[in-house]
Amino acid sequence: MTPAKILGIETSCDETAAAVVEDGARILGSVVASQAGIHRAFGGVVPEVACREHVRAVLPVLSLALEQAAVRPSDLSAVAVTTSPGLIGALLVGASAAGALGTALSVPVVPVNHIEAHLYAPFVAGAPSRYPLVSLIVSGGHTSLFVSRSPTDHAVLGATLDDAAGEAFDKVAVLLGLGYPGGPAVERAALEGDARAHPFRRSLPGRDTFDFSFSGLKTAVLYAAYGQDGRRDGRPMKPGVRIADLAAAFQAAVVDILVTRVRQAVRFTGIRAVAAGGGVACNDALRAGLARAAETDRFELLLTPRELCTDNAAMIAGLGYHVLRGDGGAALEVAARTSWPRFRR
Ligand code: KG4
Ligand code: ZN
Repeated sequence: MTPAKILGIETSCDETAAAVVEDGARILGSVVASQAGIHRAFGGVVPEVACREHVRAVLPVLSLALEQAAVRPSDLSAVAVTTSPGLIGALLVGASAAGALGTALSVPVVPVNHIEAHLYAPFVAGAPSRYPLVSLIVSGGHTSLFVSRSPTDHAVLGATLDDAAGEAFDKVAVLLGLGYPGGPAVERAALEGDARAHPFRRSLPGRDTFDFSFSGLKTAVLYAAYGQDGRRDGRPMKPGVRIADLAAAFQAAVVDILVTRVRQAVRFTGIRAVAAGGGVACNDALRAGLARAAETDRFELLLTPRELCTDNAAMIAGLGYHVLRGDGGAALEVAARTSWPRFRR
């Protein structure tokens, strides 16, 4: 059988990305145009600005990805595109481009769920997949634990009740004046800090749940930095408080919470393999914490390669291959599906 070359398109948030992946596991070309520099001035993603940037970037990024992959449009077997969840106007840009290409080339257009694509990212560069898995996704918009039985079959174990882990990094970075995007900035600052300086509480909400909560931690950082009334009003931080210590203590708390939940999930499900992905999975402290847990609790750890943790289109094309094989594609409908069935033993 000739290999399936699938073009992936990702425009759900602030990255315009395109990639060509062969048989779901060999990246031939991958281009990501980040808008971070544009949104930095606002301290976060401005949806309308993001949509306009996608319109400007989508065709050049597509051409570049095909060129990098040395693939002609006529060589493509399908076009996969993120259709949910995400900023609705941003999703529409990618879906329109994919729809037009699919029609022009007479190939299927495969709608892909962005979260499920992050869950597939550990395997898109060729690492062998193995199921079932406990899958952790930690991104700017989502923090969830799943039991994954195949690239397209996921059941929820738990999810955040408030902020996502990446969102907490971004908000704490704003509090500490560290810039945007917050995750890498907090991680850099934490290198110089002492995590023991602020023993923040590790919140694990509920009994017999795998849910997460990060908003209390964020407030604890605010109080530790500016005092109990939590008002900044342009005031300086409390005397003697070091930004690096706050960053290190916050990061250590997030890592502890995530690692604890993963260990609980492994014990509960009896599944001895864990995959992790999403932007926060770039974080070295989290990667090291998960690696330590894998050694102690003897489970296999499948970490997404760093360059595929943040938003990219290779994971979209990779998962698109499996969606296409599973059901031959579905209607190109831009919607915001964000719920999965609960996991049952
Ligand atoms: O997966 P992603 O690119 O986009 C979403 O789907 O949300 O994740 C972006 C998030 C941002 O919140 C960013 O601050 C966080 O991932 N992030 C990190 C690191 N790199 C990116 N968080 C902690 N440490 C990092 N090194
Ligand atoms: Zn993402």
